[in-house]
Amino acid sequence: MEKKKFYITTPIYYPSGKFHIGTAYATTLTDCIRRYKKARGYDTYMLTGLDEHGQKIQTVAEKRGLTPQEHVDEMADKAKELWKLMDIGYDDFIRTTDERHVKAVQKIVDIFFKNGDIYKGTYEGWYCMPCENYFTETQLVDGKCPDCGREVKKMQEESYFFNMKKYENWLKEFYKENPHFIEPESRKNEIFNNFINPGLEDLCISRATFDWGVPMPNDPKHVLYVWLDALTNYITALGYMSDDDTLFKKYWPADLHIVGKEIIRFHGIYWPIFLHALGLELPKQIYAHSWIVMKDGKMSKSVGNVIYPETLVERYGLDATKYYLLRLMSFSQDSMFTPEDFVDRFNYDLANDLGNLLNRTIGMMNKYFEGTIPTNIIERTDFDDDLENYTKEQISKVEEKMDTYYVSNALAEIWALIGRTNKYIDETAPWTLSKSEEGTEKLKSVMNHLAENLRKIAILLSPFMPQTSEKMLKQLGISKETATWDSMNSNSEISENTKVISKGEPLFVRLDREEEIEYIKNAMKK
Ligand code: ME8
Ligand code: MG
Repeated sequence: MEKKKFYITTPIYYPSGKFHIGTAYATTLTDCIRRYKKARGYDTYMLTGLDEHGQKIQTVAEKRGLTPQEHVDEMADKAKELWKLMDIGYDDFIRTTDERHVKAVQKIVDIFFKNGDIYKGTYEGWYCMPCENYFTETQLVDGKCPDCGREVKKMQEESYFFNMKKYENWLKEFYKENPHFIEPESRKNEIFNNFINPGLEDLCISRATFDWGVPMPNDPKHVLYVWLDALTNYITALGYMSDDDTLFKKYWPADLHIVGKEIIRFHGIYWPIFLHALGLELPKQIYAHSWIVMKDGKMSKSVGNVIYPETLVERYGLDATKYYLLRLMSFSQDSMFTPEDFVDRFNYDLANDLGNLLNRTIGMMNKYFEGTIPTNIIERTDFDDDLENYTKEQISKVEEKMDTYYVSNALAEIWALIGRTNKYIDETAPWTLSKSEEGTEKLKSVMNHLAENLRKIAILLSPFMPQTSEKMLKQLGISKETATWDSMNSNSEISENTKVISKGEPLFVRLDREEEIEYIKNAMKK
């Protein structure tokens, strides 16, 4: 049978500075969903990249005394290095300065022209450069950018416009028929209240007062508005409008665009309209996550509260970092990063709950059964049925949560299973069973159930913490190849030949709370 495809994208990031954990979160989340879908048998394709044009990037480059191209080249290398460090398995990394992209966008704009979607006019209004976003007088909040709260600039410029109004009714109809296009729903309501219901404004799609952008094909004094350029990356990367559009035919429409909540307006209004204007299918879903915030608000260098992924990965390991990011963020609310919480989660969830479960189990297998996992179970304990049923339920819950992208909740379900398995050790008290002849058969059942649950936990964790998952399987003596998602339906992967390692390294070594909180706080000031 042919595999079902799953095309997933991150936003393409502005290479204006070093990426902090907010950016790393978006990519980690996308990669986690990709890994999950892959484990479920999908043919996945993941796209990430950089949004390299626009006034903001030009300004940053000038400040550094570099040409914009020199600046973005350097940043692209750094971004790729970071994703390598974080083991992000993207299939393609698009840069909007890539020739393949530039050519295709120009062709797209040509189509818009031919269809009469573009006209020339004068833009008068406000512009927020950090957000690369236009606002009308009434959209401003206290005269500032409603999205980031920074100063906006008054603009008056000859520009090209995209006729959005023409598509307003179509867009409303589309949302009626596809009520789950944007998740969570609160984000959809926001764009309806703020932009769609008051009536769509035509979008200014060109700038003529700077030149770091894709030239308008028929009027190269103008460069394309960076958001029109950027959004199309999701299709140009697949070869749309190129000589080879095999990937486009195979993977479009996208199954999921992951975006941050502040850019939902672009993905929920302009992107569907551009696609519809091109006669293309729309993506299946857009998932808007919230922000990681700090005690004193947004992360910012000037406040001295920025935390970079490298800091956490280098000191605490990749999986602890991924765990924290994926567990921290709730579906629809901003979540706060604190050094205290990071260290506590590490110690309680990772070192205690998960690490000890594995360590105790491996220790007992060695002590009681010379490192083998007992398999011929002839006597069960009173707690076995309950554990088995609970485990089955948790596996379905994890799947259910992941299928709707409640990633943090899925992790919570895995931790509930870890907790239940730890409780099973207390219930069955293997140390007592080991003391008597009559206890031996029951002890075998306990060890078998523990190994079996650890195997399942390792598989469940594989999309979130791949390295930990592998380490667990290795300690249990189970090959990674046989540890497939479907293998959770049976116990057959553990046989009498399965031999655990003689001394398991702890997965996570408990941290000194005060010392590490200090360490993270200091790193934030740098
Ligand atoms: O918006 N917490 O790029 P960008 C969570 N180039 N997510 C955060 C975050 C935080 N503290 N800070 C940033 C752009 N992000 C455009 C995208 S797509 C066609 C073009 C997320 O570099 C943010 O929500 O400003 C966004 O989704 C992503 O990082 C890139 O932001
Ligand atoms: Mg931004």
